[in-house]
Amino acid sequence: MIMVMAADHGGYELKNAIKKHLQERGGFQILDLGTNDGEAVDYPEYGKACGDAVASGKAELGIVCCGSGVGISIAANKVKGVRCALCYSEEIARLAKQHNNANILAFGGRMTAPEEACKMVDIWLDTEWAGLTQERHARRVAQLDAL
Ligand code: RB5
Repeated sequence: MIMVMAADHGGYELKNAIKKHLQERGGFQILDLGTNDGEAVDYPEYGKACGDAVASGKAELGIVCCGSGVGISIAANKVKGVRCALCYSEEIARLAKQHNNANILAFGGRMTAPEEACKMVDIWLDTEWAGLTQERHARRVAQLDAL
Protein backbone atom coordinates (compact mmCIF):
# COMPACT_ATOMS: atom_id res chain seq x y z
CA MET A 1 0.00 0.00 0.00
CA ILE A 2 1.30 3.45 -0.86
CA MET A 3 1.10 5.95 2.03
CA VAL A 4 1.82 9.59 1.23
CA MET A 5 3.08 11.82 4.05
CA ALA A 6 3.58 15.57 4.25
CA ALA A 7 4.24 18.13 6.97
CA ASP A 8 5.29 21.67 7.62
CA HIS A 9 8.03 22.76 10.01
CA GLY A 10 5.66 22.34 12.98
CA GLY A 11 4.89 18.74 12.07
CA TYR A 12 7.91 17.22 10.35
CA GLU A 13 9.30 15.55 13.49
CA LEU A 14 5.97 13.84 14.14
CA LYS A 15 5.71 12.88 10.46
CA ASN A 16 9.12 11.27 10.65
CA ALA A 17 8.23 9.40 13.85
CA ILE A 18 5.05 8.04 12.22
CA LYS A 19 7.03 7.16 9.09
CA LYS A 20 9.49 5.13 11.17
CA HIS A 21 6.58 3.38 12.87
CA LEU A 22 5.00 2.47 9.53
CA GLN A 23 8.33 1.16 8.24
CA GLU A 24 8.60 -1.05 11.32
CA ARG A 25 4.97 -2.15 10.95
CA GLY A 26 5.65 -3.11 7.33
CA GLY A 27 3.47 -3.30 4.25
CA PHE A 28 3.83 0.31 3.15
CA GLN A 29 5.62 2.08 0.39
CA ILE A 30 5.99 5.58 1.77
CA LEU A 31 5.89 8.62 -0.44
CA ASP A 32 7.41 11.39 1.70
CA LEU A 33 6.67 14.86 0.33
CA GLY A 34 8.62 16.63 3.10
CA THR A 35 9.34 18.97 4.71
CA ASN A 36 12.28 17.53 6.57
CA ASP A 37 13.70 20.30 8.70
CA GLY A 38 12.64 23.20 10.89
CA GLU A 39 12.86 25.90 8.24
CA ALA A 40 9.47 27.59 7.97
CA VAL A 41 7.30 26.48 5.03
CA ASP A 42 3.64 27.03 4.18
CA TYR A 43 1.33 24.22 5.28
CA PRO A 44 -1.32 24.80 2.51
CA GLU A 45 1.19 23.68 -0.12
CA TYR A 46 2.00 20.48 1.77
CA GLY A 47 -1.61 19.65 2.61
CA LYS A 48 -2.64 20.11 -1.00
CA ALA A 49 0.24 17.98 -2.28
CA CYS A 50 -0.78 15.13 0.00
CA GLY A 51 -4.43 15.54 -0.96
CA ASP A 52 -3.59 15.54 -4.65
CA ALA A 53 -1.61 12.31 -4.28
CA VAL A 54 -4.54 10.55 -2.62
CA ALA A 55 -7.26 12.00 -4.86
CA SER A 56 -5.33 11.08 -8.01
CA GLY A 57 -4.77 7.51 -6.85
CA LYS A 58 -1.00 7.90 -6.69
CA ALA A 59 -1.34 6.91 -3.03
CA GLU A 60 -4.13 5.06 -1.27
CA LEU A 61 -3.84 6.78 2.11
CA GLY A 62 -2.10 9.82 3.55
CA ILE A 63 -0.89 11.41 6.77
CA VAL A 64 -0.32 15.14 7.24
CA CYS A 65 1.15 17.02 10.19
CA CYS A 66 1.52 20.68 11.05
CA GLY A 67 1.87 22.42 14.40
CA SER A 68 -1.79 22.11 15.39
CA GLY A 69 -2.98 19.76 12.65
CA VAL A 70 -5.68 22.26 11.76
CA GLY A 71 -4.18 24.20 8.86
CA ILE A 72 -2.83 21.23 6.97
CA SER A 73 -6.09 19.27 7.43
CA ILE A 74 -8.07 22.20 6.00
CA ALA A 75 -5.70 22.32 3.03
CA ALA A 76 -5.98 18.58 2.36
CA ASN A 77 -9.77 18.73 2.61
CA LYS A 78 -9.90 21.36 -0.15
CA VAL A 79 -9.01 18.61 -2.62
CA LYS A 80 -12.08 16.83 -3.98
CA GLY A 81 -12.12 13.20 -2.96
CA VAL A 82 -10.15 13.79 0.23
CA ARG A 83 -11.65 12.90 3.59
CA CYS A 84 -9.05 14.17 6.03
CA ALA A 85 -9.68 13.73 9.76
CA LEU A 86 -7.81 15.69 12.40
CA CYS A 87 -7.11 13.10 15.08
CA TYR A 88 -6.70 13.79 18.77
CA SER A 89 -7.83 10.59 20.49
CA GLU A 90 -7.97 6.87 19.86
CA GLU A 91 -11.77 7.03 19.66
CA ILE A 92 -11.60 9.71 16.97
CA ALA A 93 -9.11 7.58 15.02
CA ARG A 94 -11.51 4.64 15.16
CA LEU A 95 -14.55 6.70 14.16
CA ALA A 96 -12.65 8.48 11.39
CA LYS A 97 -12.31 5.11 9.69
CA GLN A 98 -15.50 3.37 10.84
CA HIS A 99 -17.95 6.15 9.98
CA ASN A 100 -16.07 8.49 7.62
CA ASN A 101 -13.62 6.19 5.83
CA ALA A 102 -11.02 8.95 6.22
CA ASN A 103 -8.33 8.58 3.59
CA ILE A 104 -5.96 11.04 5.26
CA LEU A 105 -5.25 11.55 8.96
CA ALA A 106 -3.94 14.86 10.30
CA PHE A 107 -1.98 15.40 13.51
CA GLY A 108 -0.59 18.37 15.39
CA GLY A 109 3.11 17.98 15.99
CA ARG A 110 2.90 20.47 18.86
CA MET A 111 -0.18 18.77 20.33
CA THR A 112 0.26 15.02 20.12
CA ALA A 113 3.11 12.82 21.33
CA PRO A 114 4.63 10.47 18.73
CA GLU A 115 3.62 7.30 20.56
CA GLU A 116 0.02 8.51 20.82
CA ALA A 117 -0.08 9.42 17.13
CA CYS A 118 1.36 6.03 16.14
CA LYS A 119 -1.29 4.27 18.21
CA MET A 120 -4.01 6.33 16.48
CA VAL A 121 -2.55 5.47 13.08
CA ASP A 122 -2.65 1.76 13.95
CA ILE A 123 -6.27 2.00 15.08
CA TRP A 124 -7.21 3.81 11.85
CA LEU A 125 -5.44 1.20 9.73
CA ASP A 126 -6.89 -1.75 11.64
CA THR A 127 -10.50 -0.55 11.80
CA GLU A 128 -12.97 -1.57 9.11
CA TRP A 129 -15.16 1.00 7.38
CA ALA A 130 -18.80 0.40 8.41
CA GLY A 131 -19.91 1.41 4.91
CA LEU A 132 -18.82 -2.00 3.66
CA THR A 133 -21.77 -3.55 5.50
CA GLN A 134 -24.07 -0.67 6.48
CA GLU A 135 -25.78 1.31 3.75
CA ARG A 136 -26.19 4.49 5.79
CA HIS A 137 -22.45 4.90 6.20
CA ALA A 138 -21.80 4.21 2.52
CA ARG A 139 -24.50 6.74 1.60
CA ARG A 140 -23.07 9.47 3.83
CA VAL A 141 -19.53 9.04 2.60
CA ALA A 142 -20.81 9.13 -0.99
CA GLN A 143 -22.54 12.40 -0.08
CA LEU A 144 -19.24 13.76 1.26
CA ASP A 145 -17.48 12.85 -1.95
CA ALA A 146 -20.17 14.58 -4.00
CA LEU A 147 -19.77 17.90 -2.19
C1 RB5 B 1 3.09 27.21 11.86
O1 RB5 B 1 3.66 28.05 12.81
C2 RB5 B 1 1.69 26.82 12.28
O2 RB5 B 1 0.82 27.89 12.06
C3 RB5 B 1 1.23 25.60 11.52
O3 RB5 B 1 2.11 24.56 11.76
C4 RB5 B 1 -0.14 25.07 11.88
O4 RB5 B 1 -0.30 24.94 13.26
C5 RB5 B 1 -1.28 25.73 11.23
O5 RB5 B 1 -2.45 25.35 11.37
